[in-house]
Amino acid sequence: MTLRLYVPIDAGALAVGSGQVAAALQAAAARQNVAVELIRTGSRGLYWLEPMVEAETAAGRVAYGPVAPHDAESLLAALRADGAHKLRLGPTEDIPWLKRQTRLTFARCGVVDPRSLADYRAHGGGKGLERALSLGAPAIVEEVVQSGLRGRGGAGFPTGIKWRTVAQTQSSQKYIVCNADEGDSGTFADRMIMEGDPFVLIEGMAIAGIATGATKGYVYIRSEYPHSAATLEAAIVAARRGGLLGERVGGSSFSFDLEVRVGAGAYVCGEETSLLDSLEGKRGLVRAKPPLPAHKGLFGRPTVINNVLSFASVPIIMDRGGAFYRDFGMGKSRGTMPIQLAGNIKYGGLFETAFGITLGELVDDIGGGTRSGRPVRAVQVGGPLGAYFPRVLFDTPFDYEAFAARDGLIGHGGIVVFDDTVDMAKQARFAMEFCAIESCGKCTPCRVGSTRGMEVIDRIIRGEDRAANTVLLEDLCNTLKLGSLCALGGFTPYPVMSALTHFPEDFGAPPRLQAAE
Ligand SMILES: Cc1cc2nc3c(=O)[nH]c(=O)nc-3n(C[C@H](O)[C@H](O)[C@H](O)COP(=O)(O)O)c2cc1C
Ligand code: SF4
Repeated sequence: MTLRLYVPIDAGALAVGSGQVAAALQAAAARQNVAVELIRTGSRGLYWLEPMVEAETAAGRVAYGPVAPHDAESLLAALRADGAHKLRLGPTEDIPWLKRQTRLTFARCGVVDPRSLADYRAHGGGKGLERALSLGAPAIVEEVVQSGLRGRGGAGFPTGIKWRTVAQTQSSQKYIVCNADEGDSGTFADRMIMEGDPFVLIEGMAIAGIATGATKGYVYIRSEYPHSAATLEAAIVAARRGGLLGERVGGSSFSFDLEVRVGAGAYVCGEETSLLDSLEGKRGLVRAKPPLPAHKGLFGRPTVINNVLSFASVPIIMDRGGAFYRDFGMGKSRGTMPIQLAGNIKYGGLFETAFGITLGELVDDIGGGTRSGRPVRAVQVGGPLGAYFPRVLFDTPFDYEAFAARDGLIGHGGIVVFDDTVDMAKQARFAMEFCAIESCGKCTPCRVGSTRGMEVIDRIIRGEDRAANTVLLEDLCNTLKLGSLCALGGFTPYPVMSALTHFPEDFGAPPRLQAAE
């Protein structure tokens, strides 16, 4: 009998030793003289349980974790007997943290071998493309519009509308660009897709090509993601061989091919126009809009640029229909959001769920509070340009508009948790410093204002003329907000002002009354 085991090979799992665990399992198998088939998958996203090993049983997969190399011998012996082991977590799908999720985009992540097109197809992959080809270009676009899908990279712009603009623009060459720069603090969902289910991204991009008349695509991956680039490269080769890419996509008359490009490491290169400059081989500098990339993007041609998660959500929309997807969520935030719980949190990882869940449920209930065991004081949602929310705002539902109404943003869905040892004045200064370091330098409010902002916050921290300097900081933030060319300068005021508004005591002012605003 051959034991079939699944061990993640995604960067998050590798970082905590899944490579050593895989090697130890193989060595133990040789010693115990058992035949083992070891399949390397992506991660399920329950990172506190990594390295998590799954074993195939007659009743489905059973999970064990976190497994250390020295557990390999006893684990293998247990698997040959009744499966009882101190690290046994039970049937994987029944782990409450996983069971509570609605995995649409991440349905196959951690389940399949990311380099096997056959495995992808065996788990329902490719059906979205099949249906897309039967619909034809205009109907694909309308289905994406109907789904209510909004860009998952941060700005939340309706994906279908963007595709429609490119589809309606005349050009002999159009491009599909995937933004895999994933620069936001506490985010890793793009990486998980690229390392756990890369074919879903390839399929989504191919559908975008067919819908808009683009024949060539690029995936721009941050340089810190070498595993993602390697997995995606391998998947592209397999996709070409299997007819998912190339001259006749899915056996149709459409042609579409993809290339991977690796960035050089700048947060601003995640901004779409700066990314396009970088992709063209130039320094990543933000372009003034208009023209929109949809009209004049890569090499001056009409370009769809979307985040990894936006493209990866398209196959299921095509397969199950726009109405199915739209049924999840609240208000104008439709479908599911892969939320990433990070920072000082007990249960950190990827939690995909319909929009509408509250911040408090995510942090206290699903995340289990802080890893340090101390009270949660603040959470930053939406990356380094997102606002810090105190506990009184934990009733905010995860929804683009609800966050905006409270001067926050959900961005790429990252939540970074801080306990009561955090100094919010230092966090505000850090936001200004981040902006100063990462500024592309094109416009004055961001290039100069961020450095002046650091100086003003330093004076407030030192207690120098606090009242006057606080007014100056507010004024500077307004200038950044209204006068910056892109959201790096334009949104830096969110973390700064939210820290000042909700945690004034850290800036030497009287504490704010703790009533819900
Ligand atoms: C400074 C800055 C950094 C950004 N970084 C990213 C990023 O890493 N990944 C991403 O998808 N979008 C990022 N964006 C948003 C992109 O400009 C753009 O809105 C997005 O790629 C569009 O795709 P979507 O509609 O699918 O979200 C960033 C924006 C700014 C202003
Ligand atoms: S706001 Fe900053 S990053 Fe954006 S264009 Fe201006 S200088 Fe560049």
